[in-house]
Amino acid sequence: MKVKSLGYVVIETRDLDNWSAFATDIVGLMPAPSPREDVLLFRLDDRPFRLWVQRGERDAFVKPGWEFASEADFRAAIARLRAAGRTVTEGAPAEARARHVTALAHSSDPAGYDFELYYGRVLDYLPFNSPAGVSRFITGQSGEMGLGHVVLAAPNFAETHAFYKDVLGFGDTDLGRFYLAGGDDDPGVGFAFLHTDNARHHSLALGELPPSESRLVHMMVEVATVDDVGRAYERAQKAGVRISATLGRHVNDKMLSFYIRSPSGFDIEYGCHGLLIDPATWVPTTSLPVSDWGHLWAPPEA
Ligand SMILES: [Fe+2]
Repeated sequence: MKVKSLGYVVIETRDLDNWSAFATDIVGLMPAPSPREDVLLFRLDDRPFRLWVQRGERDAFVKPGWEFASEADFRAAIARLRAAGRTVTEGAPAEARARHVTALAHSSDPAGYDFELYYGRVLDYLPFNSPAGVSRFITGQSGEMGLGHVVLAAPNFAETHAFYKDVLGFGDTDLGRFYLAGGDDDPGVGFAFLHTDNARHHSLALGELPPSESRLVHMMVEVATVDDVGRAYERAQKAGVRISATLGRHVNDKMLSFYIRSPSGFDIEYGCHGLLIDPATWVPTTSLPVSDWGHLWAPPEA
């Protein structure tokens, strides 16, 4: 009944060519056969795609796709969503085929973010090969850790946090509170880092923040080695991609990472050596700092 992993993300852009160059040349993702001429698919492991990038009117994040391990888990989640008063629309068979899954449904959270839920992994058995020479993206033995994580800004933080735990079965990994303003009166900004039913430290984080125009704070992809991270850092710098945060090490998930601005306006965290947990026995932690060192943020864009 719990979400198994972050299966895929759907992204919108006004410029597919720009996204294609960014995804392949900078991130090192492999282009995959697409069902439509207005959609580009990118893979980072043996799944037929992990990023679905569609042409649209805006540059923004559209939604994550949460994977369930079985039809029973998927049906139970739909029932819980409906019992919680959320609207759920089951996807047509053609939609499921296009997403390379057995069945999918559409819903939304109390912060107003759309998401999809699905079960059934359809594989095409094409080997992964990074055009930029990335040795490997970390998604677990058989992709069960999912593609990485997403971070959403939720002003109705408590309600949204409870929804993901109580309705979709996410678990708390780390409950951060960041006192960014300083002073005794600073109430702090709440953060919740939540795991799904796999070893990744968090597949979703929620921040007590106003939503950004791009609809996503950042998404993270994980590579196998420090050299994979360093080479990507150099590719981004040489190509003039905006480095949103310099190389650094997060305290809670130990990710050694940097952040770059994607063509859809949100950041991509690019890291390695993320902490693995046992979701069945993990006791939640509280972290006050964000990073052990580094992650110096660029000034906001004019
Ligand atoms: Fe992150």
